[in-house]
Amino acid sequence: MEKHEAKSRIEKLRELLNEYGHHYYGLDKPIVSDAEYDQLMQELISLEEQFPEFITSDSPTVRVGGEPLPFFDKVQHDVPMLSLGNAFNEDDLRDFDRRVRQGLTNGEPTYSCELKIDGLAVSLKYEQGKFVRGATRGDGTIGEDITQNLKTIRSIPLRLKEEVTIEVRGEAFMPKSSFTTLNEAKEAVGEEKFANPRNAAAGSLRQLNPKVAAKRNLDIFLYSISRIENETITSHHQALNYIKQLGLKINQESRYCKRIDEVIEYVQSWVEKRANLPYEIDGIVIKVDALEQQKTLGFTAKSPRWAIAYKFPAEEVVTKLTGIDLNVGRTGVVTPTAILEPVTVAGTTVKRASLHNEDLIREKDIKIGDSVVVKKAGDIIPEVVNVLLELRTGEEQDFHMPTHCPECESELVRLEEEVALRCINPKCPAQIREGLTHFVSRNAMNIDGLGERVIAQLFAEGLVEDVADLYKLKREQLIELERMGEKSVENLLNAIETTKINSLEKLLFGLGIRFVGAKAAKTLAMHFETIEAIQEADFETLKSVNEIGEKMANSIVNYFEQVEVQDLIGELRELGVNMTYTGPKLPSTEDVKESPFLNKTIVLTGKLTQLTRDEAKQKIEALGGKVTGSVSKKTDLVVAGEDAGSKLAKAEQLGITVWSEEQFIQETAN
Ligand code: IVH
Repeated sequence: MEKHEAKSRIEKLRELLNEYGHHYYGLDKPIVSDAEYDQLMQELISLEEQFPEFITSDSPTVRVGGEPLPFFDKVQHDVPMLSLGNAFNEDDLRDFDRRVRQGLTNGEPTYSCELKIDGLAVSLKYEQGKFVRGATRGDGTIGEDITQNLKTIRSIPLRLKEEVTIEVRGEAFMPKSSFTTLNEAKEAVGEEKFANPRNAAAGSLRQLNPKVAAKRNLDIFLYSISRIENETITSHHQALNYIKQLGLKINQESRYCKRIDEVIEYVQSWVEKRANLPYEIDGIVIKVDALEQQKTLGFTAKSPRWAIAYKFPAEEVVTKLTGIDLNVGRTGVVTPTAILEPVTVAGTTVKRASLHNEDLIREKDIKIGDSVVVKKAGDIIPEVVNVLLELRTGEEQDFHMPTHCPECESELVRLEEEVALRCINPKCPAQIREGLTHFVSRNAMNIDGLGERVIAQLFAEGLVEDVADLYKLKREQLIELERMGEKSVENLLNAIETTKINSLEKLLFGLGIRFVGAKAAKTLAMHFETIEAIQEADFETLKSVNEIGEKMANSIVNYFEQVEVQDLIGELRELGVNMTYTGPKLPSTEDVKESPFLNKTIVLTGKLTQLTRDEAKQKIEALGGKVTGSVSKKTDLVVAGEDAGSKLAKAEQLGITVWSEEQFIQETAN
């Protein structure tokens, strides 16, 4: 075939395959037979092999998976990927409705209800209609670039039907049937099976080799737009329609509800029906429909106030409690853990459940050998609900907490007002190990590939005694470890290295200062910006920071007073670990005081040519102003770009100040 002929045939094939693919995978309504589709795909693959100069990154052939990657790049989410608050019953839903109504100054809420798909949250970015990047949620701020794997999901269009620049979010998942087939195949070759479709989906998308994901028959439902330029969407259900119009796949079971009673009815209808769905869901997501109302309600630190996840009642299972183990945590607290005869609860095998402390064991009257009811709290954490006293045989044995640490044998103490027993030996190996595990965990430094098992190995071999040692690890040392090949060593060293540039709050949280959780660490990092400034701050200075209480301020001062801590920080600094805050800046009081935007409500309208909407919004917010979507008497200023329409007219009618984009840029230039 001539080159020009090949080029036009390739283009034709791509066009056909995209169209057929969209009907088949996106709309679940095929318009040609599978055989015909496969034949055209084969023809395209072979033409691209003969004429590699015509291969493009959005060709439908990328669906079969390209070359393996050495590791996943990290991706910063400009708009954080948050989680949702939970509701477990009708009362919780009515409380949610009440809170929403209280939060809204005018207007009644209406709701959009959707199935909560049990998969993996992902964010897809399209530029001028072209799929450019897909990422996992990660810790909500930083995820992993899994574009290659996502391209193998056929219901993700590589090109949208419009040339828009947009970021959409959704849930990638494995249909129940694909999950069954996959596990049967795994069983046949003696490989370990996946516990549930969610793990299988996550496991497939976190494979470095995209050929694996390509074989796994994954699918996706998109459920929100996180960024868009110049669109006039005003409600969530409109957003869903628009997503669909672009050729992206949405779930068809969503329902618009005018009142909370309708929401409750919808929720109840799925308790039974969910078993018949071809994919797994773990609840229902309820969202305030009007975007303007969502904006008014805003967010708490963790989740939006305008949405909630109803979780289906947890499955309860009976099993035998065969023993009680003791665990020593990072802060020395000794926790009893129930050892259970393995049972499947809500899709995964449960073998252990925390019993928290001795009081709880007494309260529930738990004895070794009892038959117990087990469930997963919030569908995640296994818990012993109660003992089936009627099944006792008399053979059951009482349990008593030890007097000495099961790990280092020093005497345990009960601190004032605490139920917990603690080991207070600072050199207790269990505490050190747990501290290391905490340091590498997701909300702390987030070192991939360094889980509990590897930490235990490194610690046992004497390679790592404190967190600074992690940054001193050498290839030669790691390669000696059991189950560590060349590739894993390289990946691990890379993963450790990349965390050196983490923003300060990750380190601060990772150090494990008592009472300083991830959120407080962020507050401190944003406020003080460097670790030196925190070290130098006295009790009063710390306490004066919003959200930092006495207990925490005290603990921070005590922590940094320790010579060992000062040495550790010096060592980490020398090893190249970043100790400054690198996230978005708080506006300085000086900037804000001078700002014409302080406490002002501003509306952006029309097409901005020199700034994106987001940039303009960030500028306003950094200067103490608030951006809203519609013009009312409360609006202080309207910034009007090109072709501004009804919002500009309304502003003029209400006599509100209007600035051009030019004027806005001049006023905000420093
Ligand atoms: S909306 C601000 N809608 O559930 C968060 N989430 O805790 C907005 N999920 O990991 C999320 N189906 O990936 C939303 N229809 C749906 C969903 C859904 C599944 C997941 C989501 C997130 C978790 C929320």
